[in-house]
Amino acid sequence: MPSLTWSAELALDHPQMDTTHQEFVELLAATEHALAASPEAGLQAYEALVAHTVAHFGQEDRWMAATGFASGNCHGTQHAQVLQIMQEVARLAREQQDFGPLGRVMPELAAWFRVHAQTMDAALATHLDQLGFDPATGACRRTVAAESITGCGGASCSPAAPEHTAA
Ligand SMILES: [Fe+2]
Ligand SMILES: [Fe+2]
Repeated sequence: MPSLTWSAELALDHPQMDTTHQEFVELLAATEHALAASPEAGLQAYEALVAHTVAHFGQEDRWMAATGFASGNCHGTQHAQVLQIMQEVARLAREQQDFGPLGRVMPELAAWFRVHAQTMDAALATHLDQLGFDPATGACRRTVAAESITGCGGASCSPAAPEHTAA
């Protein structure tokens, strides 16, 4: 049983974000499945999850930059922290054959994503919707305030990124 499965409570009614998030859920499950076969297969699947996450976070970061978020906003900062951990876990497995952190990070990533999607990403989806933002063109139907948003855009920020499991 994977740590994370797609469900209606993860859907944000934002087609492009939901598609990306479903892919994240599938790649996370595929990594856990591969890890059960062998560490090497797990690492290969995990590298695909990391590559997908680079694009996933990059897409949301670009949308935030285009719609009035300041560059150091907490949503983008959390993306950077999580990606740094994910890449370090991959490096330890690839370069030092230390697969322990890789095994431990999967349930943590699942738990983190569940909260992140339902808080920061949900707030971003609402924000984009309110502005009439078109992901295909980057255009908004309503005026965007310049560099004004430093929080995640929601009523509250989601908890910090998962602990660094590589230690
Ligand atoms: Fe996301
Ligand atoms: Fe996000």
